[in-house]
Amino acid sequence: METNIVMDTIRRRRSVRSYSARPVEREKLQAIVEAATWAPTGMNRRTFHFLVVTDAARLQELNRRIRAVFRQSELPSEKARGEDENYVCYYNAPALIIASNEPSEAWAAQDCACALQNIFLSARSLGVDSCWINQLCKGMSDEPQVYALLRSWGMPEGHKVYGCAALGYGDRPLPEGAPRREGLVTWVE
Ligand SMILES: Cc1cc2nc3c(=O)[nH]c(=O)nc-3n(C[C@H](O)[C@H](O)[C@H](O)COP(=O)(O)O)c2cc1C
Repeated sequence: METNIVMDTIRRRRSVRSYSARPVEREKLQAIVEAATWAPTGMNRRTFHFLVVTDAARLQELNRRIRAVFRQSELPSEKARGEDENYVCYYNAPALIIASNEPSEAWAAQDCACALQNIFLSARSLGVDSCWINQLCKGMSDEPQVYALLRSWGMPEGHKVYGCAALGYGDRPLPEGAPRREGLVTWVE
């Protein structure tokens, strides 16, 4: 079948974990976060919310608080991250979009995941690299120090984070995607 820009963008998107210092242009960030708001939501509830954070000092403060929580973890892998001064969960990307939702909503996580995929694909279509960042999930955004910071930035009261998107310009060429595993699709006709 003939390809098109959407199909090409889906194939060309890669998770990027090393960024140059070049900031993402504001109009691109606006377009990307607008794409997030156009994602489908269960029962069209649209209760999700997006913080667009581009202030490096604030991102560093968030990372410090995440590391402080990790340091208390009983999981050795998390504890090691907490104790590693060089650990930066968002890879020093110049922008981070934080997707949150009201946890009592039945499809809170799914709605955020759809929005994040819109972010990743629209970013790629504009030449911006991205990566899903999970460290604010799994209860991290409920930790008092982390929650207080997110609230002070404008996250709605009671929201939990279901995923984040690091955004920026990668400092090396995008790798090819690995071949897709066999057996991922079964047709029933
Ligand atoms: C739910 C979810 C959570 C993820 N969390 C992280 C993360 O915290 N940090 C990270 O570097 N990549 C994260 N990723 C990216 C995956 O590691 C990546 O999509 C996978 O390795 C395939 O690579 P690709 O995106 O380049 O195709 C996450 C992806 C998903 C879907």
